Amino acid sequence: MDNIAGSPVEGENFFGRDADVAHLREILRNDDVLLLGPRRIGKTSIARAVMAKVREEGWRAVEINVASCLDERGFLDKLDTALRPHLASFPAKTKAAIAGAIAAISGRIKSVKIPVPGAGSLGVELGSGTAEEWTAVACEVLSLLAKAEEPWLIYVDELPIFLFHIINSDPITGVDRVRHFLNWFRNDVRALPDSKQFRWLVSGSVGLDTLVQQHKMADTINSLSHQTLEAFEDDVAVALLSSLSSSYQIKLAEKDVKEIVAAVQWPQPYYLQTVFSHLRGLISAHPEASHASLVVQAIDKLMRPGMDNEFHHWETRLYQQLPKDDANHARALLAMACRDPAGARPEALLAHLTERMPNASLDDVRNTFVSLRDILQRDAYWRSDETTGIKRYRFQLEPLRRWWARRNEP
Ligand SMILES: Nc1ncnc2c1ncn2[C@@H]1O[C@H](COP(=O)(O)OP(=O)(O)OP(=O)(O)O)[C@@H](O)[C@H]1O
Ligand SMILES: [Mg+2]
Repeated sequence: MDNIAGSPVEGENFFGRDADVAHLREILRNDDVLLLGPRRIGKTSIARAVMAKVREEGWRAVEINVASCLDERGFLDKLDTALRPHLASFPAKTKAAIAGAIAAISGRIKSVKIPVPGAGSLGVELGSGTAEEWTAVACEVLSLLAKAEEPWLIYVDELPIFLFHIINSDPITGVDRVRHFLNWFRNDVRALPDSKQFRWLVSGSVGLDTLVQQHKMADTINSLSHQTLEAFEDDVAVALLSSLSSSYQIKLAEKDVKEIVAAVQWPQPYYLQTVFSHLRGLISAHPEASHASLVVQAIDKLMRPGMDNEFHHWETRLYQQLPKDDANHARALLAMACRDPAGARPEALLAHLTERMPNASLDDVRNTFVSLRDILQRDAYWRSDETTGIKRYRFQLEPLRRWWARRNEP
């Protein structure tokens, strides 16, 4: 097994989530899936494992990453590019008709590529006329694809980033365009005569749920089956580290392996892989040192400035998905919770927020608190813990707590 810490893992390197793959596959029998979760928890890896599985069953599966798409046309271009290679293998009798129709569609997609003179005018350039046109083109593409005899899985990665691009670049009609996009997905795509032949797996790491709630369009994604990825159970985490150790001929004692799992606390595979990668480097640099001391250093390395890129996005993400004041409040609540590994009591957090919102009514403060508390829980920053008999909100990922604490030191 390779020690990969960053890129999606596939095949032999995809560890410990076969049951989750089977679960997602099962949901796809009847529903489309929305897989949301923080960065690096393994969304792309599992989505690819699901694609491999359905391909074995004879489906066609395509992946589009829409993070770089700036508008609806960009999205269609991605779809078009991913689907094109499949045309060659369509059944002979329909191939000619489809090839002609697809060529015409591609012409139309290109024809809606109006050059945008300045970012500020984007909203004006993409009036509702254009939006209608792209939905029609998109539906036509899908109808043609349904002429293949096999079912399709279309995996759309990073959809929320694409939708945030639209909103941020078009302050005037951006929200309406996003609503229109999501409605197209929910209504038009499902209304196609062959809609059952398509299944969608949509994933992303920036809060799509926060976005739709804020703009009162939660109904647009309700038809998707919402899923996330739990961290590994401790025994699976131990097995992953043991498997890596034997691949790299490192004899790690069981207590050292358990020490790593305990230090991470929320054993998502990425953090195990990263600590292992630091440990490998340290062992080869200091072959005489005890593994126990190197394990401590490897964990510390996670938080060290320069090595801590992976934690910055936890902070940035607050500002991407929340209005600035709320993001500042959320950061202040996290700064309070990070002081103690056991977390902070809700009363103390609420009192802190009350001080920060001197002009707001008690009801408003409470509503803000409840909403931020739930967002931070859903997005895996903290979890509520009542094991001591007293409720506290505590960081899930211990290295993130330590990083947050270091950043908040004077
Ligand atoms: N099943 C797995 N087995 C082993 N390692 C894994 C597994 N899933 C994820 N990882 C680890 O997590 C890292 C990130 O995986 P992946 O790119 O799939 O996550 P992601 O959630 O799509 O991330 P991003 O939000 O950055 O796109 C991998 O490089 C690997 O270290
Ligand atoms: Mg990914």
